[in-house]
Amino acid sequence: MAIVVALAGSPSAKSRSSGLLKRGIELLVESGVTVQQFSLTDFVAEDLIYGRFDSPAVQAFNNAVKHADGLLIASPVYKAAYSGGLKTLIDLLPEHGLAGKVALNLATGGSAAFTLSLDHALLPVLNSLKIKFQVGGVFATDRDVAWQVDGSFHVAPDTEERLRLAINSFVSYLPHPLSAELAPGRLVEQIRQGRISV
Ligand SMILES: Cc1cc2nc3c(=O)[nH]c(=O)nc-3n(C[C@H](O)[C@H](O)[C@H](O)COP(=O)(O)O)c2cc1C
Repeated sequence: MAIVVALAGSPSAKSRSSGLLKRGIELLVESGVTVQQFSLTDFVAEDLIYGRFDSPAVQAFNNAVKHADGLLIASPVYKAAYSGGLKTLIDLLPEHGLAGKVALNLATGGSAAFTLSLDHALLPVLNSLKIKFQVGGVFATDRDVAWQVDGSFHVAPDTEERLRLAINSFVSYLPHPLSAELAPGRLVEQIRQGRISV
């Protein structure tokens, strides 16, 4: 079963990008993906600012990322990029820490003029950590998403549709639940057992 780490990169308590992430997680779970959730607010600010790699919370995050197949990252647009807090956490990932993994980013911002901010700002960072592939991200303006008084999160229909398409694409790059690793020494046996397709 595929494992995805979902990371909420907003420092806000009532965060729109975290709401969008929540909806993305629901869609992932419906697709049979196991999701491990983290939020910037899980971490002690000093650990992030002072680069404490040995912080137990940071180590738990790094360990989860190490064993995940994909990363679903949400952030508000801050000054035409992602949040600074998110960068402080990404900085604590080990070198090549995203090797072989797939990523999808979700962003919310005040203006549609900033639609591609995360794609532009985050991709070079993920590439430097040797990400395998980034699926095209989803951006919503503050008019498209909102927390309701009853605690539910509203996503405008066209944003929901774009999110659905992006999550489907993301899932298609994750390991299929029935896929098996090809083991050259056991190839004939694996084909006989029907555990791989060629
Ligand atoms: C410090 C700061 C910088 C921001 N910079 C931008 C920006 O450059 N472009 C934009 O469209 N919105 C900007 N915004 C608005 C937020 O991106 C927007 O309200 C977002 O939905 C907040 O997400 P959150 O609730 O998850 O924190 C900024 C907000 C703050 C607080």
